[in-house]
Amino acid sequence: MIQAPRGTFDVLPEDAARRGALEHHARRILERAGYRRIETPAFEATELFARGVGEATDIVQKEMYTFDDGGGRSLTLRPEGTAPVCRAYVQHGMHKLPQPVKLWYLSSFFRAEAPQRGRYRQFWQVGAEAIGSAEPEADAELIVLLAELLEALGVRELRLRLSSLGSPETRAAYRAELIDYLRAHERQLAPEVRARIELNPLRAFDSSDRSTREAMRSAPKLLDRLAADDAEHFARVRELLDDAGIAYDLDPTLVRGLDYYTRTLFEFESARLGAQSGVGGGGRYDRLIEQIGGPRTPACGWAAGVERMLLAAGELPLAEPVLDLYVATQTSASDAKRGGGQVRRAAFALALDARRAGLAAQLELAGRGLKGQLKQADRLRARYVAIVSEPGHALLREMESGEQRELELGQVIHEVLRAGHPA
Ligand code: HAM
Repeated sequence: MIQAPRGTFDVLPEDAARRGALEHHARRILERAGYRRIETPAFEATELFARGVGEATDIVQKEMYTFDDGGGRSLTLRPEGTAPVCRAYVQHGMHKLPQPVKLWYLSSFFRAEAPQRGRYRQFWQVGAEAIGSAEPEADAELIVLLAELLEALGVRELRLRLSSLGSPETRAAYRAELIDYLRAHERQLAPEVRARIELNPLRAFDSSDRSTREAMRSAPKLLDRLAADDAEHFARVRELLDDAGIAYDLDPTLVRGLDYYTRTLFEFESARLGAQSGVGGGGRYDRLIEQIGGPRTPACGWAAGVERMLLAAGELPLAEPVLDLYVATQTSASDAKRGGGQVRRAAFALALDARRAGLAAQLELAGRGLKGQLKQADRLRARYVAIVSEPGHALLREMESGEQRELELGQVIHEVLRAGHPA
């Protein structure tokens, strides 16, 4: 038997309902705030991610599905949505539109990661990007919108980690200072931290080793080194979040796997998720558009994993699918003599007409006997069953009460409509 590739999954009809509810909430919350839907291609020029996400990141180094298009051009299945949305912004001259341009998406992404609960090789994200605003209100509003979405979905046990990265220049100077500090305290550091001082000095903050943790307590923090305007921007974002009643943990050790961030950085985690606790995150990326060849444009945004949100979500109130009418057939002896064709044609036409009239209607398609058809209608929770046994007539049965009446075929739809339909 051929199976779906490792790390991928099928969205079966029973899963589709919860995903539909999630999409409904995302659209409602984001479009109310002026975000408009965008979808970009599933693959892009590899260079977009190398330049946008960053050559040195794990994503670009190890996790991309890259292939040759047959003509010597390197393409990559998108591992994330921010670089593609920025590419579309530049390509379509959206910088000429009134700013900011606010876009949202719900798309699938691809990363060659080791699969586990909440981590897949093809997964979906809801994302929002506000391009062309440098205001702290844009950062704060985006964070509030993600908080609202998670709240609407019933994602609980949440923690918001918040930090600021300042500018790349500040970061480079800070990195050098941190490396000096780590070197000066080398004897107190765990061997694996010591081995990575040059490669990834920030990792030292994540160590669970006691002596390392002790040494890191007085290590310099990037938040204390921010330039005045970056610090001011961050203070404003925090003030707005405080006003909005959004709780957060200031976390100077927050790191995210993408290189494009400047200033604000954030991530929502849910304790319900286990190891892959990141539900959604993002930040400001004021240099990205310039890096991929556009005009210098401030921007920020976030993306949240659909599967992780659903794993951590409560019960989503789902609308029961409604079936107004089930069209059954019963072939009479005289019709059978004519091959049963007339009755079945009449039933087929009745189901079509019912749908054209706005009803949810299904036709018997599995050749069941009458008893089997009624059972099937019951399983589908049909409100009415029309049993067509002669071309011009039907017996209309109201399933809840069991009442039934003989009607002319032309009256059936009218009768079901008259009773009102909740669809
Ligand atoms: P990210 O943190 O890499 O950010 O991904 C966002 C979310 O996608 C994660 O929090 C997680 O829920 C989900 N996710 C990531 N990888 C996987 C996976 N392998 N399986 C299942 N879910 C996954 C970004 O992608 C940025 N583009 C966010 C952003 C938008 N920043 C600014 N604008």
